[in-house]
Amino acid sequence: MTLWNRTLVTAALPYANGAVHLGHLAGAYLPADIYVRYLRLRGRDVAFICGSDEHGVSILISASKEQVPPQTIIDRFHAANARAFERVGIRFDNYSRTSLPLHHRTAQEWFLDFHEKGVLRRYVEQQLFDEKAAMFLPDRFVTGTCPHCGFDRAYGDQCENCSKYYAQTELLQPKSLLTGETPVVREAVHWYFPLGDFQQRLEEYVESHAGDWKDNVLQQVRSWLKAGLSDRPISRDLAWGVPVPLDGEAGKVLYVWFEAVLGYISSTREWAEAQGAPERWKDYWCSPDTRYIAFIGKDNIVFHCLMFPAMLMAKGGYILPDNVPANEFLNLQGQKFSKSRNWSIELNEFLDRFPADPLRYTLTLNMPETRDSDFTWKDFQARNNNELADILGNFVNRSMHFAHKNFGGIVPAPAIETDEDHAFLADFGRAADAVADAIERFRFRDGLQAAMSFARTCNKYFNDAAPWKTLKSDPGRAATTIHHCAQAVRALGILLDPVLPETAVKIRGILGLPADALWTWDSIATERLPAGHALGPLALLFQKIEDDVIDTIITGMETAAAEADAARPVEPPSYPPIKEQITYETFSSLDLRVGTVLSAERVPKSDKLLKLVIDIGIEQRQVVAGIGKAYDPADLVGRQVVFVANLKPAKLFGIESQGMVLAASESDGRPVLLAPAGDIGTGSIIK
Ligand code: MF3
Ligand code: ZN
Repeated sequence: MTLWNRTLVTAALPYANGAVHLGHLAGAYLPADIYVRYLRLRGRDVAFICGSDEHGVSILISASKEQVPPQTIIDRFHAANARAFERVGIRFDNYSRTSLPLHHRTAQEWFLDFHEKGVLRRYVEQQLFDEKAAMFLPDRFVTGTCPHCGFDRAYGDQCENCSKYYAQTELLQPKSLLTGETPVVREAVHWYFPLGDFQQRLEEYVESHAGDWKDNVLQQVRSWLKAGLSDRPISRDLAWGVPVPLDGEAGKVLYVWFEAVLGYISSTREWAEAQGAPERWKDYWCSPDTRYIAFIGKDNIVFHCLMFPAMLMAKGGYILPDNVPANEFLNLQGQKFSKSRNWSIELNEFLDRFPADPLRYTLTLNMPETRDSDFTWKDFQARNNNELADILGNFVNRSMHFAHKNFGGIVPAPAIETDEDHAFLADFGRAADAVADAIERFRFRDGLQAAMSFARTCNKYFNDAAPWKTLKSDPGRAATTIHHCAQAVRALGILLDPVLPETAVKIRGILGLPADALWTWDSIATERLPAGHALGPLALLFQKIEDDVIDTIITGMETAAAEADAARPVEPPSYPPIKEQITYETFSSLDLRVGTVLSAERVPKSDKLLKLVIDIGIEQRQVVAGIGKAYDPADLVGRQVVFVANLKPAKLFGIESQGMVLAASESDGRPVLLAPAGDIGTGSIIK
């Protein structure tokens, strides 16, 4: 077991090409911040590093769309995102940006070091060049027909229809998305990082973490390793980025991912310089007693678990990530976040209407730790009202109000403690351990649930002890109860501080503690507010959210999304060419009949397939139909369909399909069932 003396925590550098939204927050920044706040409460030495990722093609594209220099775009979003993080209580030690000269210098140093050591390779490759835009086309900016399945809107690297990968030059009828022109093939010379050479060391590295990395991370990394790693290009012909620092390489920049991960290092350097200790960043990056944790979303796994570690290995003298607790994705009201569909909640927008803590609370309990999860406004409202206000707020408010009203606003001295009191006090330490254990294993949902379960215990203690009754009959008993309640408020404040930092500050105020009061994790079970300690003024911790507020937001969102959908240019549908001619004989060999759906159910483990039983007049048939995404089984029963009765039976998902129902298929692939237009008997022949 290594003894860690300090922790380096990084969170993925967001692209300065758009506003940070709730999905980003739940994916990487919130878990990172909770973890860092927790470590600080434990008195650990931590550096929490982030910044804007300001290069890459998409920024260039946004700039050209708006007809402004890329600098305008990155300045806008760098400032907006830094502010959003600040407002939501994410406390980075440094929030840098990759356009900084220090970053360019750092990335170039790394490239040159690899170059001088002979690590890099240089290959000539064929690439699509847009002559009108005067640039090579990145994969995402060229479409064409898939060489495998014929899908006519495939991208340059992968077909969305058949999922196959290919080189962009293999696309048929390629078209530039920048200018609409047909690109030409040109030779380009590029620098490659020999990722394949690190296969074995990376396997060893990953397997050494088999016991502590999350399953979703291990699975993804192992499947990449299994497929085999190969050389990766690290230069691009682009007018925006960190220039390749070699003579005769004008117009080439470092591939954005190659330099972005180094942004963590340059951000740490910037932080160290600002502290007047320019060498101090090395303590965090080059010292084996530092533990490095990299928080990211699942789309960043390959770069943080393979590419970046390989770069760190190639450089030598650097530590590797000890854990990469990547999250899955957060959805919004059941659908993916989408900028173009206007289906998103930007963090700044959210914070214009609601305080940060209820959001942090809701997102933590819905964190996509092991699978995709969902944010809904109703859930946000319910958690705010029924949990934060009614459980946590209620306990703090009732017990402290009681202290003001009946004990002159001071912590009363306890009298004789009962078994119930002792059991309650023992819960403090147990709760602290349970929360700590969960956070240290990156299970933030579990950690918060454990803290809230302690809040429920506190409510129960107060209710069971009923100090409003004992106040007359046994004042010492009431004083003891309130003495312990004050301790519990303090314990809750610390336990919830990582997730609810603004609330923790308010709780300190309510307890009459200065902002710099001794407020450590270890003190939860061991320290007490002394009898006679003067409490501070009461304050409302959580404001309830009314139904109409939430309903208005939901309606507004749905309208905006519908408008965005309507405003989107409809692509002309594309239809395949007419097939070869057939004779009437060939056609009439088809046995088509009108059928009626008797029952419909989903095929287990498939979202596409339905099992239908169909009455075709002379008999019943069972078929498996690929219409599950477009139809709800319940809506199909009783419907008439066009049925192919003489198709040879086939097995699908282990179920025999005895025929076929006909559907028209739109260019987006969505099936629409065919049915007779008027009343007709089941079993009628179609010819
Ligand atoms: N900008 C990338 C994204 O938003 C993340 C970059 S992480 C870094 O997906 F390490 F490369 F900076
Ligand atoms: Zn395809």
